[in-house]
Amino acid sequence: MEKVLEVKNLSFNYKKEEPLIEELSFDVKRGEFFGILGPNGAGKSTLLKILLGFIRPQRGEVRLFGQRLESFKDFRRIGYVPQRFSVERAFTGTVGELLRAVAPKERVGWIIAFLHLENLLERPFIMLSGGEQQKVLLAMALTTNPDMLFLDEPMTGLDIHAQEHIENLLKEIAKDRTVVVVSHDLGFVLRNASRILCLGMPFCRVVSPEDFEGLIRELYRLH
Ligand SMILES: Nc1ncnc2c1ncn2[C@@H]1O[C@H](COP(=O)(O)OP(=O)(O)OP(=O)(O)O)[C@@H](O)[C@H]1O
Ligand SMILES: [Mg+2]
Repeated sequence: MEKVLEVKNLSFNYKKEEPLIEELSFDVKRGEFFGILGPNGAGKSTLLKILLGFIRPQRGEVRLFGQRLESFKDFRRIGYVPQRFSVERAFTGTVGELLRAVAPKERVGWIIAFLHLENLLERPFIMLSGGEQQKVLLAMALTTNPDMLFLDEPMTGLDIHAQEHIENLLKEIAKDRTVVVVSHDLGFVLRNASRILCLGMPFCRVVSPEDFEGLIRELYRLH
C-alpha cells in the first residue's frame, strides 16, 4: 500500500531544554483512518503543524505523497481542520465569506450541499454553535477536494448529536480519502481508526485499536 505520509526520526522542541517530540517515526498508508492520541501538551497539535509545514522540526524527515516536505508544493491535496478554539476569534465574517475566501464560488457548491450549510451562509461564524462551526471548518478544509485530511480535535465541545453527525460525515469523507485525526475522544478513535499513534505515552507507539485497548486495560489493571 502506498505511503502518503512518512515521518522519520522527527525531533522538535519549542525551547532547547524542553524536548517535545523525540525521534518519532511512523507512516500512514493511502486510505487509512489514522488516529493520534495523547494527553494535553503531548505535542499533537504541534505534530500536525510540522506535518503541514507551518513549523520546522530541528531534526528528521517528513514526506507527503512520497515527496520531501521541503520541496512539496501540492498543498491542495491536503486539507486541515484546526482545533476550533484556536481559530474561533480569528474568523470574523459570515460563513459564505469564509468559504469564498478559500475557494471560488463554483467550487464550494458541492460542499455546501454535502454538509447542508445552505442556511448558515449569511450568518457570522462566531455566532454559530460549536457543531455548526465544526462543520464550517470541515467545509473549508474540503474546498480543494483533498486526498488527505488532517483534523485536530473535531469532537471537542460538541454534544452527542453533533458528535454523531460529525463522526458520520467523517466516515463518509474517509471512504475515498486518507484521514489523520487527533482526538481525546477514545470511543471515536477506537471505532474508526485502523491504527493509532500514541504521543506522550511511553508504553505505546503505533498500535491497532485492539492492542491499544489491551494496553489501557493492563495499565489500569482492568479485566
Ligand atoms: N508556539 C508555542 N511556543 C512555545 N510553546 C508552545 C507553543 N505551542 C505550544 N507550545 C507548548 O508545547 C506543548 C505541546 O503543545 P500542543 O498544543 O502541541 O499539545 P497538544 O498535544 O495538542 O495538547 P492538547 O491536547 O491540549 O491540545 C505544550 O506544553 C504547549 O504549551
Ligand atoms: Mg492540541
